[in-house]
Amino acid sequence: MLETDKIFAGSIPENYDRYMVPLIFEPYAADLARRAASLSPDTVLEIAAGTGAVTRILAPKLSADATYTVTDLNQPMLDYAASRQPPDSRIRWRQADALALPFENAAFDLVCCQFGVMFFPDRMSGYREARRVLKPGGHFLFNVWDRIEENIFAHDVTNALAEMFPDDPPRFLARTPHGYHDIALIRRDLEEAGFSHMTIETRAEQSRAPSPRLPAVAYCQGTLLRTEIEARDAEKLDAAIEHAASAIAARHGSGEVAAKIQAHVIMAVA
Ligand SMILES: C[S@@+](CC[C@H](N)C(=O)[O-])C[C@H]1O[C@@H](n2cnc3c(N)ncnc32)[C@H](O)[C@@H]1O
Repeated sequence: MLETDKIFAGSIPENYDRYMVPLIFEPYAADLARRAASLSPDTVLEIAAGTGAVTRILAPKLSADATYTVTDLNQPMLDYAASRQPPDSRIRWRQADALALPFENAAFDLVCCQFGVMFFPDRMSGYREARRVLKPGGHFLFNVWDRIEENIFAHDVTNALAEMFPDDPPRFLARTPHGYHDIALIRRDLEEAGFSHMTIETRAEQSRAPSPRLPAVAYCQGTLLRTEIEARDAEKLDAAIEHAASAIAARHGSGEVAAKIQAHVIMAVA
């Protein structure tokens, strides 16, 4: 991944939450929250929480005396999450780099992370930090996207942009969010970080949108693909969206559209 692949700021938090979260994150947030709550944790740490897609679903499921520490590297993402969360004295918001967590050893029963580990420049440091702050026997619960070919709209948008910028195609989606999907590698990395009892489930869902334009806007404006498009030609963002929308319409129709998304859901014990 590139250094810029982790800067979620400017208009990204709002566009991310408005377009991307309903398009692809909500079904997996419901799944992760259900799994997290079934462990009945008293002390929960969420890392790379973004605009709070998981937080909003998990908080109401935790017990009244639980504490829920919600963190992200980028303060603008966390500010957006906090602005959408009803008042809740159990939640502590804190800016934190998952690679250097500002918490004591063995402080949490559960560390959860939705679609965040792909953004860690040094994944092993992130895994070791998650293990360090977990109590022995505590759980690390997270998910990662499967390969881009299993995530149809992301693949369509990436292919459309490659037609538009043939000499230097914007590859953010393939490189980073869809760049860490090898189950054997994930298992090896977790083992090396000291985790055991790994379970990995591959889960398909449907991504739905009222029109082909919405996934095009979501990926081109609500992700760091925007930064990549504008770096190639600051004037071409709208044209890129229209080109991606036409490609999606050609493949999926001009009305409501739906296509497969797929992710791996991982649980490991510290
Ligand atoms: C695809 S978003 C996922 C956000 C959220 N979990 C969700 O499901 O919508 C990835 C998040 O990882 C965060 N991130 C990137 N690098 C990070 C790091 N080193 N430590 C903590 N968070 C990081 C970004 O700020 C961003 O909010």
